[in-house]
Amino acid sequence: MKSYSIALIPGDGIGPDVTDAAWQVLSTVASHSGFSLTGTPFPWSCAFYKETGAMMPTDGIEILRRFDAILLGAVGWPAEVPDSVSLHGLLLPIRKAFVQYANIRPHRLLPGVQGPLKTQNFDILCIRENTEGEYSGAGGRVHQGTADEVAIETSIFTRTGIERILRFGFEQARARRRKLASVTKSNAQKYSMVFWDEITRELAAEYADVEVTSYHIDAMAARMVMAPESLDVVVASNLFGDILTDLGAAIQGGLGFAASANINPDRSAPSMFEPVHGSAPDIAHLGIANPIAAIWSGAMMLEHLGEKDAARTVMSALERTTARGIGTAPGRDKTETITAAVLAALD
Ligand code: NAD
Ligand code: IPM
Ligand code: MN
Repeated sequence: MKSYSIALIPGDGIGPDVTDAAWQVLSTVASHSGFSLTGTPFPWSCAFYKETGAMMPTDGIEILRRFDAILLGAVGWPAEVPDSVSLHGLLLPIRKAFVQYANIRPHRLLPGVQGPLKTQNFDILCIRENTEGEYSGAGGRVHQGTADEVAIETSIFTRTGIERILRFGFEQARARRRKLASVTKSNAQKYSMVFWDEITRELAAEYADVEVTSYHIDAMAARMVMAPESLDVVVASNLFGDILTDLGAAIQGGLGFAASANINPDRSAPSMFEPVHGSAPDIAHLGIANPIAAIWSGAMMLEHLGEKDAARTVMSALERTTARGIGTAPGRDKTETITAAVLAALD
């Protein structure tokens, strides 16, 4: 029997609730599908930081490297640990160390979910560059605390980084509706984003079967609201992709529905699966976090592991659940009610 070892990092706030829900669904589908999943939990979180002074042990990355995949809930508890410490101590180093350069975030409405837009008819795949750009962590502050203080945050874009994320997007577009939107702000950012536009044009010549359009990020934000049905694959830099995918979450009914896969396409290290949302301190401990985004992320993990039938089973269980109106109204159904309905819909 095939067996996969999964590192579980529930994290903070609602992270443990939604990870537990996803794990219940994934273990159940595995037992029906003739493979096994072994989960090893890691308590790395803001609570762990408060106990140990670090978000994960110094050999944390080496520990994770041995797993087939990582399932993560959410990281961050800003009331007690600054986000600049918690995210740079756990989530962001994992994405970078494991070269998970493609962050895939699907935006479409599950049946029975009423989005805020007039149109309900869209199917967007955001591909977010996940290892460099605005998240390079290069910069510093000088003259701190004085009137002359300056903070510099340098975005680093490499040809390798831009080219590989665009190629990944082109390949996804080929498997879908053959349309690719490349997002920059090259009218204002004249080095990195002009560079990105140039590489987009170079690759467009190579992928002549894909219709390519370059958009500015501001216009893309409007388009995702005004004409989301015109979009197929959307490729954006790290920060722009971050922002667009919370917008994508909003048009698909909310953050409780937005799934995400941090993929290492070369498979030289584990990939990581997590919802788009964070730890939601405002609803933590209320038992009302929507687990759908985490369960959908789990389906993306099964797909990545090659368990395509099991991934489809999870997606159709989610669809049957929302089609019955369960989990579709924010805050109405308990996490455990939604999870039980998804489990019951697996067959
Ligand atoms: P958030 O995504 O946690 O919450 C934004 C809003 O969406 C809140 O009103 C929240 O209640 C709601 N929401 C989020 N997930 C939901 C769910 N599953 N069901 C129902 N409602 C949900 O964003 P934030 O408030 O900006 O961030 C909170 C903390 O999480 C911060 O520390 C932030 O840095 C961190 N964060 C972590 C990740 C991650 O680990 N991948 C992602 C985003 C934010
Ligand atoms: C996300 C989150 C993270 C990001 C934060 C928490 C650093 O917002 O996964 O979308 O910006 O990548
Ligand atoms: Mn985000």
